[in-house]
Amino acid sequence: MDVLINQIEAFKQEINAFNVTDKTSLEEFRIKFLGTKGLLKSLMGEMKNVPVEQKKEAGQLLNECKQFAEARFEELSSGLSDHQDNGPALDLTLPGTPMNVGGRHPISLIQNKIISIFARLGFAVAEGPEMEDDWHNFSALNLPEDHPARDMQDTFYLHKSPDWLLRTHTSSVQIREMQNKQLPLRIICPGRVYRNETISARAHCFFHQVEGLYIAEDVSFADLKQTLYFFVKEMFGEDVKVRFRPSYFPFTEPSAEMDISCLICGGGGCSVCKRTGWVEILGCGMVHPAVLDNCGIDSSKYTGFAFGMGIERITMLKYQIKDLRLFSENDLRFLRQFSDAV
Ligand code: PHE
Repeated sequence: MDVLINQIEAFKQEINAFNVTDKTSLEEFRIKFLGTKGLLKSLMGEMKNVPVEQKKEAGQLLNECKQFAEARFEELSSGLSDHQDNGPALDLTLPGTPMNVGGRHPISLIQNKIISIFARLGFAVAEGPEMEDDWHNFSALNLPEDHPARDMQDTFYLHKSPDWLLRTHTSSVQIREMQNKQLPLRIICPGRVYRNETISARAHCFFHQVEGLYIAEDVSFADLKQTLYFFVKEMFGEDVKVRFRPSYFPFTEPSAEMDISCLICGGGGCSVCKRTGWVEILGCGMVHPAVLDNCGIDSSKYTGFAFGMGIERITMLKYQIKDLRLFSENDLRFLRQFSDAV
């Protein structure tokens, strides 16, 4: 029995002397004292040598000894904080978790780019309602009710009154601005427009436009051309070629359409440019005197030019996108490809 008491004493001292610094030494502690082949087990083995009348007392002592070892183990393991074996838990020098920020829609990116190009030429942004009356969208623009050119734009009329419609172009905003008569006038009108078209890769029932208007004394077609040349160079680069083709719009005279050399094939001919090497990007012309008169502007004193382009078309050319429907499907795999840098 005395031998056992001495062994227990030695066991306790050894436990107290054991130095635990990390998880590995803690495990060594467990194996040495509490493991299946550990010191506690061998002390327990001593029981068989204890005389029967002392077995009860010896059992108590060994039990205490076991509790002592286990308590010490608990104490040591809770005293080991994580940073002692895994390095610092919080490393302030590590880069943060990247945050998922949204990006701008490609149509917005190109719209902003167009606005900033024209802003450098002194054009201010003007906006107007998407729901318009017949006069602002058509009649004031030299398109009376029976004018065949109304067929160029299939219109959504609002049920309640045939006088109300969804604007088919942002020229209606130009009318509103001209009525304000603060001349000279130099504005661009970005915005959404609606046309009753079957949805396909090339057409949609709504799209976006930027239309421009400059009215002052002595504005000439040369001013129009220079303005648009500047725009194309800024938008598509120095190497892009430009050509004007005579065209017809009721609200401009003379009228033209502007083509640029195809960005996909470089002018050689491909399916996008229908093998011509050219793609049309906008309509333009000198504001028809009747339109000026309709807005109360003296057409014998003032002249002006106007132009209008579809933002979708410009965006498709810029990013080589072949299907217009992608713009309104909100597919993140598509949208994530555009960065703010245009
Ligand atoms: N409003 C015309 C359209 O939507 C574009 C245009 C604007 C043409 C100004 C000439 C002058 O198709």
